[in-house]
Parts: sequence; structure tokens; C-alpha cells
Amino acid sequence: MENKELAKQFRAPAFPGSYFLSFEGIEGAGKSTQIVKVRDYLESVGFRVLVLREPGGTSFGEKLRQAILNSTSPIHPIAELHLFASSRAQLLTEVTLKELETPNTVIIYDRYLDSTLAYQGKARGLGFETILRTHLSFPLTLVPHLTFYLRIPADLSLTRQKMRNAPKDYFEKQGQNFYQNLVDGYDEAAELFNERIITLNGNQSVDKVFEDILAPLNALILDQNKRPEN
Ligand SMILES: Nc1ncnc2c1ncn2[C@@H]1O[C@H](COP(=O)(O)OP(=O)(O)O)[C@@H](O)[C@H]1O
Ligand SMILES: [Mg+2]
Repeated sequence: MENKELAKQFRAPAFPGSYFLSFEGIEGAGKSTQIVKVRDYLESVGFRVLVLREPGGTSFGEKLRQAILNSTSPIHPIAELHLFASSRAQLLTEVTLKELETPNTVIIYDRYLDSTLAYQGKARGLGFETILRTHLSFPLTLVPHLTFYLRIPADLSLTRQKMRNAPKDYFEKQGQNFYQNLVDGYDEAAELFNERIITLNGNQSVDKVFEDILAPLNALILDQNKRPEN
């Protein structure tokens, strides 16, 4: 099966008046910054908003996070893929699906499937097909109604990371190549899931990026036709 055919197996959950969103992009793209603004906005118009991050959010996920952090040997990309898929399945059933049952709830993921495609699929070299096939069983077939991909060039990621943290040696050649692979991976994911993923220029002011998010976001939450009950 072609990746395009595999991509058709993925669907947004159908809960009246509730929405599932995700933010994607490399380190420093502005995900955390925009998620705060989107959460505040959605709360101001009456939604209950939960922000989630993988792995974690469940006791099982926290243990997996510790397993990754405490590993004394490098984790094979296949092992990494399945660790994320495990914590993802658990967070989806334990938290996301339960919370979405309450009308007017928005679940925001800070990174989701497209990060797996970019990191394990592209940068770690497993390929998109392997990632997609690993996700073909429910609840892993669930994807957000909208994904905001904040696109920035690899070198801007390094500049912003340097500004945010104590200066580190992020500038070695290998680091640059890795970030470029991630950008390429996200671009490919955005092409594959071209209805769900909104690609935004992250190299603009915080307010301009937010403005670019608001248009498709409002179209989703205000368009009654897109609501499952209609
Ligand atoms: N549009 C922007 N223009 C300039 N700097 C930004 C912008 N968005 C975020 N930043 C800054 O870049 C850094 C990384 O942003 P952050 O939201 O933490 O990114 P991410 O969560 O994607 O890693 C922070 O210091 C933040 O203040
Ligand atoms: Mg962040």
C-alpha cells in the first residue's frame, strides 16, 4: 500500500463540539509560545482546554519516559518508535478520548504523530511506511482535526535554542544535518496529510503567527458543518 493510501486510514475523533489539535515543528519553532496563546483564546470563547505532551500524562507513560531517560545504551529507532506508540495509545484511551466526551473540550498535543514521522521516520531513517503501519490499530489511527506546523529553517532553531538556554555547542555539522532532516520530514508529512496539517511560517512575529493560526482555527470551531452532530 502506498503511503497516501495508508494515510487515509487515519481519522479525527467524532465528539460533538469537542476538538483535537496538535502543534508540530522543530525545537524553537514556537510551539509552547503559541499553545499558551491558543489555550487562552479558546478558554476566552468558552472551551475547556487540556494541553498534553508525550510520553507522559499517564503513570505508564511516565515510566516509559524514565525508561528512555535512564537508558545507559542508545535506544534503537524501532524501540523508540514502539515506546512512543505505547505511551500514545495509553494517553489516547486514558485521557484524550475520555476528556473529549465532555462537550466543548479542546485537547492540544504539544507534538504528536507528525513528530514521529519526522524524528523516527525521516531523521532516524525508519521511513514513513513503518511509522504509519505501526499506527494502523485503534486508538493509534486517531489524528487531530487540525495540526499547526510551525515551519522554521534549521539554523533559526539553533539560534532560538541558544537564546533560550545557556549557550551550547549545537552548531556542529551533524546537528545541522539532523535538524534539516527533521524539517524535510515535517514537510513530507504536511504534504501527505495536506488537509489536516496547516503549514505556517514560524519565522514571523509571535502575533503574526498567532493571527495565521486563528483563521483556520476559527473556521474549524465556528463551522457547524464540521461538527459531528450535523
Ligand atoms: N515568532 C517568534 N519570533 C521570535 N522568537 C520566538 C517566536 N516564537 C517563539 N520565540 C522564542 O523562541 C524560543 C523557543 O520558543 P518555544 O515556544 O519554546 O518553541 P518550541 O516549544 O517549539 O520549542 C523562546 O525563547 C521563544 O520566546
Ligand atoms: Mg516547547
